[in-house]
Amino acid sequence: MRLDKLLAHCGVGSRKEMKQLIRKGHIQVNGEIIKKDDYQVDEIKDIILLDNEEIQYRRFVYLMLNKPQGYISATMDQVHPTVIDLIEGYEHYELFPVGRLDIDTVGLLLLTNDGQLAHHILSPKKHISKIYYAKIDARVDETDIAVFKQGINLGDFTALPANLKIVSANDEESEVEIEIFEGKFHQVKRMFEAVGKTVTYLKRIKMKQLILDPQLEEGQYRELTNDELENLMKIDVK
Ligand code: URA
Repeated sequence: MRLDKLLAHCGVGSRKEMKQLIRKGHIQVNGEIIKKDDYQVDEIKDIILLDNEEIQYRRFVYLMLNKPQGYISATMDQVHPTVIDLIEGYEHYELFPVGRLDIDTVGLLLLTNDGQLAHHILSPKKHISKIYYAKIDARVDETDIAVFKQGINLGDFTALPANLKIVSANDEESEVEIEIFEGKFHQVKRMFEAVGKTVTYLKRIKMKQLILDPQLEEGQYRELTNDELENLMKIDVK
């Protein structure tokens, strides 16, 4: 990889700024000052110093975002801001959201540039668990639990059995937690519609073993810890 590209990938600054740093002699590769920005480096083996401090190359980044309402789960949109607009300082990593939350859904969204992990999590065959907290405009009861457990028919497909837990319920409103194992468009909203009820608030709180950090306000994000990442990368055998 070119030296200027590698430095930009490490988050030191823009490609243009890196070219200037290199030309001014701030960069050493294996103990030698290098002033050519297209100098080829081996990102794994070579030791690269910026003003005598070692640069750690990272190919992939994994961020947990608490998505607010009003943002589209995409990298670009003509009309609305995207979740990528919320992220600062990671521009050169070309992050993308792993899956989609509706514009009005909040909560846990993983952003990464690791296509393989995203593929693993999104693969419909893997049946990855996702847990949502939801508010419903009616009383949710044992009948709904049984219907969801059976696998509800939504016309174009039958949802896999889902686990519904009632947190509170009265005739006007209920709070529930629902665990689903696929990620079809508007799935949770459509499942409640099928039993004649409407989701008025939806928040994803867990995906696989990854739990939304309660310290994160809506719009805030942080990198995953090593443990979180390890758990996410485990391939489930089902
Ligand atoms: N189900 C929905 O209906 N919307 C979401 O954003 C996620 C799951």
